[in-house]
Amino acid sequence: MSTQTARQHITLSTLNKIRAAGQKFACLTAYDACFTSLMNEASVEVILVGDSLGMVLQGHDSTLPVTMADMVYHTQCVKRANSSSFIMTDMPFMSYSTDKDALENAAALMRAGAGMVKLEGGAWLESSTRLLAERGIPVCVHMGLTPQSINRIGGYLVQGRDPVQAENMVREAVLLQEAGASILLLECVPTALATRITETLNIPVIGIGAGPHTTGQVLVMHDLLGISPIKPKFVKNFLPESDNGIAGAIKAYADAVKNGSFPAPEHCFD
Ligand code: KIV
Repeated sequence: MSTQTARQHITLSTLNKIRAAGQKFACLTAYDACFTSLMNEASVEVILVGDSLGMVLQGHDSTLPVTMADMVYHTQCVKRANSSSFIMTDMPFMSYSTDKDALENAAALMRAGAGMVKLEGGAWLESSTRLLAERGIPVCVHMGLTPQSINRIGGYLVQGRDPVQAENMVREAVLLQEAGASILLLECVPTALATRITETLNIPVIGIGAGPHTTGQVLVMHDLLGISPIKPKFVKNFLPESDNGIAGAIKAYADAVKNGSFPAPEHCFD
């Protein structure tokens, strides 16, 4: 008989219950089997197969070159090892620019093992979000700083500081929730705005550089281990806090998210 305690398999309903209880959940990127097992061990609730793999694994200077084949392959790698976390997979650049593409490509990612797909954008995603949700594919919409639009945005800049832009973000978040989004992810948004959106919606909100009041937090794993060449303000290296190498750093991150000590004020934007 196994000496390990069986962990609960996390579903969307678990994440909604965590939100309803006023608690927090941890999300981290993983792209392979080995790190997936460590995240399961550390009780990381959500694994994001992020298109950040284009930068941290493939060495590109943005996420734009990442393909559907890349995302299917890495989702399969994560799925094979996963025993308990909820798997969310990014739809890569231009894979959801029409409703038809969104449906076909999201279906391919779900077949590869995703439990949810993530799309970057705002109001223009309304019809594809509705289409996917109605056909049984859970959708996370990524708003704020959306790295696939980096050429239009003009840099990795905080979004929503301008009052008009902030009002638009709240309105679009509500619209996408009504269209069927099950999770919203906010990147590089002032704490006050992210808090307002979290309190306005009735779905979980995951933040990265969005302050301490969102339901969940996400980091790119390489950032958490301090091995990324770029160190944005919202990143913390958890390796120095670990007495058990990488496994300990992942656990320290998951614990810090759940007890509310991460992100600290120095990781947040006004
Ligand atoms: O691709 C990714 O890792 C992401 C996170 C930065 C949220 O989308």
